[in-house]
Amino acid sequence: MKVDVLLGLQWGDEGKGKAVDVLTPRYDVIARFQGGPNAGHTLEFEGQKYILRSIPSGIFQGNKINIIGNGVVLDPALFKAEAEALEASGHSLKDKLHISRKAHLILPTHRLLDAAYEAAKGDAKVGTTGKGIGPAYTDKVSRNGLRVGDILCHFNPKYIRIRTYHEQLLKSLNYRYDLTEPEKAWFEGIEYLKQFQFTDSEHEINYLVNSGKSILCEGAQGTMLDIDFGSYPFVTSSSTVCAGACTGLGVAPNRIGEVYGIFKAYCTRVGAGPFPTELLGETGDKMCTLGHEFGSVTGRQRRCGWMDLVALKYSIMINGVTKLIMTKSDVLDSFETIKVCVAYQVDGKETDYFPYDINEHVEPVYVELPGWQTDMTKMQSENEFPEKFNAYLSFLEEQLGVPVKIVSVGADREQTIERYTA
Ligand code: GDP
Ligand code: IMO
Ligand code: MG
Repeated sequence: MKVDVLLGLQWGDEGKGKAVDVLTPRYDVIARFQGGPNAGHTLEFEGQKYILRSIPSGIFQGNKINIIGNGVVLDPALFKAEAEALEASGHSLKDKLHISRKAHLILPTHRLLDAAYEAAKGDAKVGTTGKGIGPAYTDKVSRNGLRVGDILCHFNPKYIRIRTYHEQLLKSLNYRYDLTEPEKAWFEGIEYLKQFQFTDSEHEINYLVNSGKSILCEGAQGTMLDIDFGSYPFVTSSSTVCAGACTGLGVAPNRIGEVYGIFKAYCTRVGAGPFPTELLGETGDKMCTLGHEFGSVTGRQRRCGWMDLVALKYSIMINGVTKLIMTKSDVLDSFETIKVCVAYQVDGKETDYFPYDINEHVEPVYVELPGWQTDMTKMQSENEFPEKFNAYLSFLEEQLGVPVKIVSVGADREQTIERYTA
């Protein structure tokens, strides 16, 4: 049995939550491997909408085991709010959600440090989600972190030691704060967490694979936000790429089977950082309005632009993508023409080599394709696809060298079309 991975190929918000939910019936286990509550994974079905932050997107379909892996950073207060809301809406979690003892905790002071570092950066700020992600991963790597497993063992002295260290940092940054309320909510979250099953998730996952169970690993963020391969320093602080599933869950590389790479039929980005195909005028606004491109975590308007095949090919290469999932093509249903960036013009030369830096010296080179101008949102099968849409898909597949196996034509679970001819 192999372990499959589903991850974002762009700057996040590609529709990972929806896609994982759709694929869940095919798996026994769904496991998140990195990120934290900076993620906002939206699922829609039966007229309801859910936004998941730290909980894997496999909790709604059947009694599947859902695992929060060691690569995730968990904020107990936000986790409590998320889990309680789900339980209140009739979705029980306690028996099927397992949490890695090795997952790191986001402390209240991590959130303060996130804000303080951003403020100190001024114009160069990353535009983080403010959830303490960078500081939590920093403490992990600098060997100062607190882990879920610590909760049951001399927890308070460990917490106080780290808090003291953080308060010194905050003081040196002249950052004013009041920790009373956030700390209270955090400790309530810690108590709440204790009701869940803490596991050595690397042992659990390997045991499950060896007993013939199938596993889908769910990524957060996207390849262009990866700490190594994204548009650094405008990135998140974890390994969002396929290799992150190995380190974030304890899965050996030779266990990886299919790698689902998910992308939008255009591009979006939240926060600061370079974005070669960004559209600042009317067309970008139209994409934003039709695609409801507002962040599910922060509510910030997402920047919109044309699809960037140079970046997409790079993401496919880094991740070893075997199957593509395209979402939100319905947002382009009414467009007369659709542009796709096939190369960059860098220092007067055209290239499809993804460069060290995608800054203002990178000029996109576009191919223009005719729009299909058909409402595809109610389509059920690929046999209904308009000819021009098929031509667009063929163009993408030829450029990318990987089949587009699933096309999503709306936010609802049902608005998903599998392609058998790809
Ligand atoms: P994720 O972070 O990758 O899970 O993506 P988000 O949930 O943050 O953002 C994707 C948004 O697009 C959500 O509001 C989804 O409900 C919505 N969505 C997903 N797939 C489609 C699609 O094919 N068409 C449309 N119109 N919306 C979609
Ligand atoms: P999902 O899983 C889109 C962006 C932030 C910021 C940068 C760093 O829903 O696709 P962080 O808080 O991680 O330190 O912020 O990364 N970012 C996301 N953008 N989708 C996400 O998650 C994101 N998670 C972080 O906007 O630019
Ligand atoms: Mg999202």
